[in-house]
Amino acid sequence: MDYFIESAPIEKLQSDCIIVGIYQEGPLTPAASALDGLTRGLVKKIVERGDLSGKNGETVLVNALPEGGIERLLLVGLGKKDALNAKTYRKALAAAVNGLKRTIVKSAVCCLGEAEVKGADSAWKIRQIVEVFNDAIYQFTQLKAEKEPDSKLQSVVISAPESERAAAEKGLLQGKAIAAAMELTKTLGDLPGNICTPSYLAEQALELARFDKLTVNILEETEMAALGMGSLLSVSRGSRQPAKLIALEYQGGERNSKPIVLIGKGLTFDAGGISLKPAQGMDEMKYDMCGGATVLGVLQAVAEMRLPLNVVGLVPSSENLPDGDANKPGDIVTSMSGKTIEILNTDAEGRLILCDTLTYAERYNPDVVIDMATLTGACLVALGRVPSGLLGNDDALCNDLIAASETAVDSVWRLPLWEEYQELLKSPFADMANVGGKDAGTITAACFLSRFAENFRWAHLDIAGTAWRTGSNKGATGRPVPLLCQYLINRSQKA
Ligand code: BES
Ligand code: MN
Ligand code: ZN
Repeated sequence: MDYFIESAPIEKLQSDCIIVGIYQEGPLTPAASALDGLTRGLVKKIVERGDLSGKNGETVLVNALPEGGIERLLLVGLGKKDALNAKTYRKALAAAVNGLKRTIVKSAVCCLGEAEVKGADSAWKIRQIVEVFNDAIYQFTQLKAEKEPDSKLQSVVISAPESERAAAEKGLLQGKAIAAAMELTKTLGDLPGNICTPSYLAEQALELARFDKLTVNILEETEMAALGMGSLLSVSRGSRQPAKLIALEYQGGERNSKPIVLIGKGLTFDAGGISLKPAQGMDEMKYDMCGGATVLGVLQAVAEMRLPLNVVGLVPSSENLPDGDANKPGDIVTSMSGKTIEILNTDAEGRLILCDTLTYAERYNPDVVIDMATLTGACLVALGRVPSGLLGNDDALCNDLIAASETAVDSVWRLPLWEEYQELLKSPFADMANVGGKDAGTITAACFLSRFAENFRWAHLDIAGTAWRTGSNKGATGRPVPLLCQYLINRSQKA
């Protein structure tokens, strides 16, 4: 979909539909009032007759207007004026696109940028319009022979006054980059495991080398073996697909400025290995590469926004399958760091591929390292599907991520990473076990990772509950792309 900014008065803008917001029990917005004038009082009449109360998310589509060259009007309830905040604004935006789904509307003019949102500037509002619209029209249809699109919408003109033009253009640029990144992340997530293999992910990463200042390098199993990545390779041994370690380097900053390293779990299918998962819902383990897909999306967005930062993306990618050569419970492997690991549960494989990648990250002399992984079912038990779990060894970094998550409306919730939990990982035979028993599973998983992140500031996002939706609406969400893009935008403004 295409997005543009226009500052001309609405009667000058041609489209199939004008989208305008209506407050509940409030005054008409400038655009609503202008449209009311152009339609001989139609807007007021709809509200006065009670067809639209203005409640947040309510919509009325008027598909025939007497005159004035206006094809259609979509009135969207914004709720009470004082209650309009980042979350309710996004709800109204989603309602607006959903109001156009299954209609014949191909082009729209969106006047929702004029709404007053608590604590938000126009760049933020424009960005949200692009992000929410693009998210809502996303459909994964590429593998259907018979497809019928939900939405015919192809272009959205966002109306913004001349005085806010510069901010609006900035919001448009960021919104388009983030929306495209989410689309890439969602598409990779929704692709099934028989197509989206480690080799496929690597090929997709190589495609990103088309961007300026972005280079991509794929480490093969022989190179990983030479580096001593015994933990990562032990997971891949049970699979016929070769593991890949994808390394993306974006050089947008000063040559000597330390990079921000992002690591994403790229497990393209997690059957559990010899500790086989139950059949119920196992298909969803194709989403176990969503951390890796997030890294690809974010690197693409960073390159597209040309942020003046150095950012490295690392994606260890493998399958986890049962096989005669797969890891067995009780096996002991040696990680690249030299630390030995007793594998008590082969289904705790994410940490096994991440730990060697964390060690590998040291060679970049990172400023900070942030990893994201669909790591534990326990995170769903603790936090459900609302926030991503956040853990880390540096309060300032965690606080920066929390602040970014609030701006991006991509929530996180921090869990403690206290010393007391570390002893749950004790092994009688190796330096540590790969699981810590049934208590505090998200925390013990992060404790495991923390042992490989001692030499840098590090944060971990457990996205098991947020990377995809389950049930009838099953599909990838593109989270936490918005959070990370916001963190990087904030960093680029500090730098
Ligand atoms: N990829 C899973 C985590 C997962 C499970 C994410 C369900 C989303 C939904 C991970 O590799 C895994 O299997 N973790 C185990 C760890 C356990 C063996 C300590 C889990 O959560 O059961
Ligand atoms: Mn697993
Ligand atoms: Zn997994």
